Amino acid sequence: MSDPRRRRSVSQTHLDDLLTAQLAAWALDHPGRDVVDLGGGTGGMAMDLAADGYRVRVVDPSPDALAALERRTAERGLADRVSAVQGDATELVDLIGTESADLVVCHKVLEVVEDPAEALAAIASVLRPGGALSLVVAQRHAAVLTQALAGHIAQARRIWNDPRWFDRESVLAAVAAAGLEVRATHGVGTVAGHVTESVLEAASGGQAELLELETEVAADPAFQAVAPHLHLFAVKR
Ligand SMILES: C[S@@+](CC[C@H](N)C(=O)[O-])C[C@H]1O[C@@H](n2cnc3c(N)ncnc32)[C@H](O)[C@@H]1O
Repeated sequence: MSDPRRRRSVSQTHLDDLLTAQLAAWALDHPGRDVVDLGGGTGGMAMDLAADGYRVRVVDPSPDALAALERRTAERGLADRVSAVQGDATELVDLIGTESADLVVCHKVLEVVEDPAEALAAIASVLRPGGALSLVVAQRHAAVLTQALAGHIAQARRIWNDPRWFDRESVLAAVAAAGLEVRATHGVGTVAGHVTESVLEAASGGQAELLELETEVAADPAFQAVAPHLHLFAVKR
């Protein structure tokens, strides 16, 4: 699942690999499947999925992001497999229809919506039985550390005391409350998110070695708790 022209970070490559593996594991890796990318923005993930044969609807409130998406899909000859739908999470069921998607991708969006529980309930509604959710959320512990290490101590404290930030336990609980069954969780950017470009360039075999390490630690619960993002794959029975 990749566009060779797109330069990917180690974290993004790892996320692509995780999604590819989960789709294969749950027999959802067939061309023609219906995908909804909620908050898909300019469509990086949508275009990769479309290139693999999926039909993808990108739902996003930003007209600018959707215009960029349409330009990019036309350039890559994928316009017949990707459609742009303007709207937000609260409108998802009306826009997409119940039980009409085999996969919902919701990456780095749940933390910006007004009501995450409502968004997850809408995602569960639009999934067909046997369909799956690929969720990526930003996590509180890593955000606190990142801000503090950059000298933004007050911001670190604000994040720590803000109940809207997710951690591994709260996101697992939120997905379960929506009636979806969690099949796998992995840290994203667990190590790679902390390694700067210059350090990586100086290290021999850096990029490949770092991807191996990132992959090895991703399933470890202790590392997951401090990862900048958590990837969660859940299915609707
Ligand atoms: C951080 S970007 C993530 C984009 C993309 N999913 C990715 O992984 O690169 C957040 C996206 O969520 C969209 N968004 C913001 N509020 C939203 C809402 N209430 N419902 C759906 N999408 C929303 C934004 O327009 C933006 O495209």
